[in-house]
Amino acid sequence: MGLLRPAVEDVQARHPNAVMVDAGSGNAYLGFVLYELFLKGAASGTLLSIEGRPDLTERAQGRAQRLGFTRMQFQTAHIDTAQYPERIHLLMALHACDTATDDALVAAIRHGADHVAVVPCCQAEVAAQLKEKRPVVASSGSMSLLYAHAWHRREFGSHLTNVIRALTLEAFGYQVTVTELTGWEHSLKNELILGRRVHRENRRARMQLERLLAETGVNPKLTRELGVKPAVSAAVEPVSAPEPDAPEDASEHVVTR
Ligand SMILES: C[S@@+](CC[C@H](N)C(=O)[O-])C[C@H]1O[C@@H](n2cnc3c(N)ncnc32)[C@H](O)[C@@H]1O
Repeated sequence: MGLLRPAVEDVQARHPNAVMVDAGSGNAYLGFVLYELFLKGAASGTLLSIEGRPDLTERAQGRAQRLGFTRMQFQTAHIDTAQYPERIHLLMALHACDTATDDALVAAIRHGADHVAVVPCCQAEVAAQLKEKRPVVASSGSMSLLYAHAWHRREFGSHLTNVIRALTLEAFGYQVTVTELTGWEHSLKNELILGRRVHRENRRARMQLERLLAETGVNPKLTRELGVKPAVSAAVEPVSAPEPDAPEDASEHVVTR
């Protein structure tokens, strides 16, 4: 809640009818705490929980009724096919399994979310793509040694997935912070990716993303859904490290709304 507070307060200050979405909500614990702290005392604003399992949705719905949390809404749906309001202001996804985190990020980007906060879970798709594409990546020298073993492929695949997620958010105009959610003793899936939309797009990040896809030979669901294609030629000038906290680039466009 401490890590989410700046995003919640920002959307509440700017949008009286703020729409907050919890994707892959499970028992909706995150939503209940958030409602108690930030929405109960506010005159408006809704929290939409999206969960694939109907038993969890029903149970959470009953709990919300008992608590009188009338602006908590529930939908039993897959994150990628759920019915979203036209505009989302804050999207959260806490341990949404595998590519469900990608689905949540796609929804956030398509519905213009001002803020996103995701803590990815296990991820298998990119590890499988690395295995398949090994001959392509082998051309980049020793890089393929980083994931020659299945165990390393899983870890590297998971890391690469989250790097791509952060860079994709940047490419779509978000200022990104990657940090630790909690102590390792509580969860091994502990990476929190926070995004705040500050531009309409960031062309430099988009180029870096396209090159990363080309150089690694992977293309996860997130970039496929958003139509991001690997660069045709990865052999261009070296890239400098991204500056997530200060994305200054003449090619970026400031969002005016
Ligand atoms: C590990 S639990 C986390 C639940 C909750 N966010 C939390 O942190 O307590 C992941 C939840 O996401 C749901 N889920 C996974 N993939 C989904 C999808 N594509 N669409 C909707 N829900 C999904 C699962 O049913 C499960 O309840």
